[in-house]
Amino acid sequence: MYQINDNYQKLPGSYLFSTIGKKVAAYSEANPDKKIIRLGIGDVTQPLAPAIIEALHKAVDEMGNAETFHGYAPDLGYEFLRSAIAKNDYQARGCEIGIDEIFVSDGAKSDSANIQELFALNNRIAVCDPVYPVYVDSNVMAGRTGTYDTKTETWSNVIYMPCTAENNFVPEFPKETPDIIYLCLPNNPTGTTLTKDQLQKWVDYANEKGAVIIYDAAYEAYISEDNVPHTIYECDGAKTCAIELRSFSKNAGFTGVRLGFTVVPKELKCGDVSLNAMWARRHGTKFNGAPYIVQRAGEAVYSEAGKAQLKEQVAYYMRNASTIKNGLKDAGYTVFGGVNAPYIWLKTPDNMTSWQFFDHLLEDANVVGTPGSGFGPSGEGYFRLTAFGTYENTLAALERFKTL
Ligand code: MLT
Repeated sequence: MYQINDNYQKLPGSYLFSTIGKKVAAYSEANPDKKIIRLGIGDVTQPLAPAIIEALHKAVDEMGNAETFHGYAPDLGYEFLRSAIAKNDYQARGCEIGIDEIFVSDGAKSDSANIQELFALNNRIAVCDPVYPVYVDSNVMAGRTGTYDTKTETWSNVIYMPCTAENNFVPEFPKETPDIIYLCLPNNPTGTTLTKDQLQKWVDYANEKGAVIIYDAAYEAYISEDNVPHTIYECDGAKTCAIELRSFSKNAGFTGVRLGFTVVPKELKCGDVSLNAMWARRHGTKFNGAPYIVQRAGEAVYSEAGKAQLKEQVAYYMRNASTIKNGLKDAGYTVFGGVNAPYIWLKTPDNMTSWQFFDHLLEDANVVGTPGSGFGPSGEGYFRLTAFGTYENTLAALERFKTL
């Protein structure tokens, strides 16, 4: 009889956003007349920008013609896209990242879950708490996290770095030394971020301890302050300790299109083993490339027209962010984030738990958000709202908040 990977049995409950989806569906079925406003999962609502649609149409037509048809994409992604990424996301910021250090993928979620495969099972991971659940769950599935304590809602072999209002959401160096450090900046879920000086300290720490940083920069496009780095490679020494994950979902609305990339610098080595070579081997074996059509759409993100249109799209969502932030403040809530990220992180009122507030908001205001405790124990007592709704729904949701 075969045996299963019983690490899966250790996972508590279902994936956070599936749980929320089920709760909302049940409420909706029982209350079909209620119009629910969804500010839960960070999914975009604005259509793809015209420059992207144009590139998609063109690429679709190419696929219908024998001379311009494309089959399997090159392992690392098409050069036209990797060159655009290297030039715009890195060289323009003074970071020397070569195109053979960029691996195009179908999105940052899969890369953030898969990247742990490069490391031994006895490595110790450190995560911010609260944290995007994929980092922890993918390590649970691999068998790296030890046992789960239902009381503290923590794993015995995971180092948690609390990020709360008390420490201004800046993770402190942990007491125990980690091997793999996950940082998501600007942060999901708290919507806060680190300055370049603060991030430099983490890069120095990782280099000193021989740790690797998995740096998720999916929300980079939302940075508005000058002292916030757009890539970890702006920090000195990052190329010897950091892997960067990037997404087209949030900056260009590709949540339903699927495109991302991972940067693994050639200088990143464990002894004399190159992680770049390992990821290339993994990519070649387990992945057959993001579709040609989608990679052309990705290239359009970096065209002059694309850049201008996406700047407007980001501004649209950030107007929602400041509307929510200011509106909630006026209504007496304590709020964080929303300046360099499209998430607002609020303190639940009246000592309600995160899930109590979720139910209250769903039932009494028909607004969906995400309970902070779903992201980790230090998220208890907090609640996340996304700025990715439409402006109209954002305003309507705020009105409903005021009636609570
Ligand atoms: C979120 O709501 O946290 C994100 O949408 C999840 C994701 O990007 O996978």
